[in-house]
Amino acid sequence: MSVVSYEIIDGVGVIRLNNPPVNALSYALREGIIDAVNAAQADASRALVIVCDGRTFVAGADITEFGKPAREPSTTTVIATIEQSAKLVVAAIHGTALGGGFELALACHYRCALSSAKVGLPEVKLGLLPGAGGTQRAPRLAGVDAALELITSGNAISASKALSLNLIDRVVDDELLAAAVSYAVELADAGAELKKVRDISIDPATAPAELFDKWRKTVGKKARGQTAPLLIIDCVAAAVTLPMDEGLVQERAHFTSCVSSPQSAAMRHLFFAERASAKIKGLAKDTAVREVKSVGIIGGGTMGGGIAMNFANVGIAVTILEVSGEALQRGLDLVRKNYGITVSKGKLSEQQMNDCLALIDGTTDYEGLCDVDMIIEAAFENLEVKQQIFAKLDAVCKPGAILATNTSYQDVDQIAAATSRPEDVVGMHFFSPANVMKLLEVVRGEKSSPVTVNTAMKIAKTINKIPALAGVCYGFIGNRMFRNYIAETQRCLIGGGTPEQIDNAMQQWGMAMGPLSVNDLSGIDISYAARQTQTQEQKGEPACYAIPDALVEMGRKGQKTGAGYYRYDAKTRAKSSDPIAMEVVEAMAAKHGVERRPISDEEIQNRVIYALINEGAKILEDGIAQRPSDIDVVFTNGYAFPVFRGGPMHYADAVGIKKVYDSICSYRDQFGEAIWKPSALLAQLASEGKTFNQWGQERE
Ligand code: 3HC
Repeated sequence: MSVVSYEIIDGVGVIRLNNPPVNALSYALREGIIDAVNAAQADASRALVIVCDGRTFVAGADITEFGKPAREPSTTTVIATIEQSAKLVVAAIHGTALGGGFELALACHYRCALSSAKVGLPEVKLGLLPGAGGTQRAPRLAGVDAALELITSGNAISASKALSLNLIDRVVDDELLAAAVSYAVELADAGAELKKVRDISIDPATAPAELFDKWRKTVGKKARGQTAPLLIIDCVAAAVTLPMDEGLVQERAHFTSCVSSPQSAAMRHLFFAERASAKIKGLAKDTAVREVKSVGIIGGGTMGGGIAMNFANVGIAVTILEVSGEALQRGLDLVRKNYGITVSKGKLSEQQMNDCLALIDGTTDYEGLCDVDMIIEAAFENLEVKQQIFAKLDAVCKPGAILATNTSYQDVDQIAAATSRPEDVVGMHFFSPANVMKLLEVVRGEKSSPVTVNTAMKIAKTINKIPALAGVCYGFIGNRMFRNYIAETQRCLIGGGTPEQIDNAMQQWGMAMGPLSVNDLSGIDISYAARQTQTQEQKGEPACYAIPDALVEMGRKGQKTGAGYYRYDAKTRAKSSDPIAMEVVEAMAAKHGVERRPISDEEIQNRVIYALINEGAKILEDGIAQRPSDIDVVFTNGYAFPVFRGGPMHYADAVGIKKVYDSICSYRDQFGEAIWKPSALLAQLASEGKTFNQWGQERE
């Protein structure tokens, strides 16, 4: 079937696009649109409507085509053809008109949208900028400030908001095609002009230099290290000062440089990785998904409360179980407080907050959970405690209820063994703050049934999380790797670095915060407490935890005690260097026989990131992660790994596997095999000249 069809309805030529799943502007679609618009010029139609079949209006350029040789007609040619049509063109928008799709709509003479539709220019999320006129047309319609918000955030906006910004001309509640056709008839009857956005000029007084300076500052902070956001600002500035065609030339030049940049390659990789990670390899197509209409949560602490909010936000009833009425009240109060903060930021209405709160209930009796469809245990991180809870759940929960544990480290199989139904048990590991962080690590136990795992993966999407499937091991994917990252940070610190140098080096590299500052923020005592229950093997060698142990034993637990790796002002929380911390570093180095030496920023960056990569490769060898790209999803969505680096495994591919492997071998020679044993998979890929991506593709 052709991707573009054409018919005349009530004297209006309707160009219908049908390129599932999201009507991306593939080569065939581009060619089809041009042919249809050109052919319609000579027929009996009075005006044209462009409408889409399926779930959405055009959701953008076909991302799979980037990086391949360009093929005419390009999206730019499609857009020029529409804009130059001698017959008036109306875009009829439903679903999400995004990127090149919204740019196509902006080239139409009028835009009509369903009230449920959304529009946006999300290219920045792919390390790109709108390359088909978006940076020139959006500010001409919406003004510079609103356009910069739209394009630098990449977030879609509602049809009503778009209407208020002049980006859309009419919003209708239903019967989109009929409404768009009658709109076209109405415009034709009135002899309406062919409104071309390019003809609008922007009053420079509305876009002073300070406005752009403000945006450069904001974006420089928010998207630190990324190239595209700053180029977007340059393009929008050009829309004010340059004629349309010159602005378009500048936009195209910047777009072309972004498309071929490593940053965009990394972010496009993540786009597809985030979709792949939701798929369970080898799962029979007809595997059932259990219905989840109600959820029980064990533990109303920060984690349990955050998890509860995810479900209430999408209309699923939640019952929180706590050990006492007091603890329960504290938990419910915390949830209310968190919602209150969201309301005060204007991100939620009072009514929406009350609707969510009405869905969250509490109990102190396990019997109160006898009817729920899914339970998520978010209690104290201790195997025996969790086993006792699961034995109780086994006694009260209805048959078929999914029994999930939010454990970060404990053995899901041993937890499942405390029940008579291990097939219903699964790990659902949320990341803190659970109502904000996008990642959900789903841990498949040895006996978890396909239906149980499938349900956990699907519910993740329902509550707007990005799932990644892991097998059972200490720390699963994320924490198993993160431990290596932290341990290597400590080795760099005791071996010659300072907290400032290490944090700055990692921040420069792209991490949102330096690892030691993060540790001060979250509390050094947390991992200290965890170490008390670990085996020597789990702890690693003393040099990788001697400093935090000493700091905690001195009462320096991080920000909450006013001191940790740094000192913090009691009032402002401003951070400053602390010679006492350095005394601890030096004392611990002497105690453990480590000779401190100057260490370069590059060495710190390589060692810390290569430690992640080496462990990631071992995780793949062990079959703990399904694919290399799942590891990238875990790190970018759960550990603030910079998206423009694409995740640790993509980064290894970008640097070159051989180079990474050779460096790891040299660290092994320098620091010993106990710490730096190169992964066998890494060695194999280095010798075969293959990337993780190729290895992963071969196994799909
Ligand atoms: N190109 C190619 N494939 C695309 C695509 C695109 N623009 N958008 C989505 N897909 C694919 C997905 O990879 C997925 O494939 P899969 O089923 O094989 O995994 C399938 O379509 C469905 O996508 P989702 O799972 O994401 O479906 P949802 O319903 O959850 O979301 C959506 C739909 C909101 C449209 C979302 O897919 C999305 O945000 N797409 C990307 C939009 C975008 O970034 N557009 C800008 C592209 S760049 C551009 O236009 C440049 C221009 O300025 C020149």
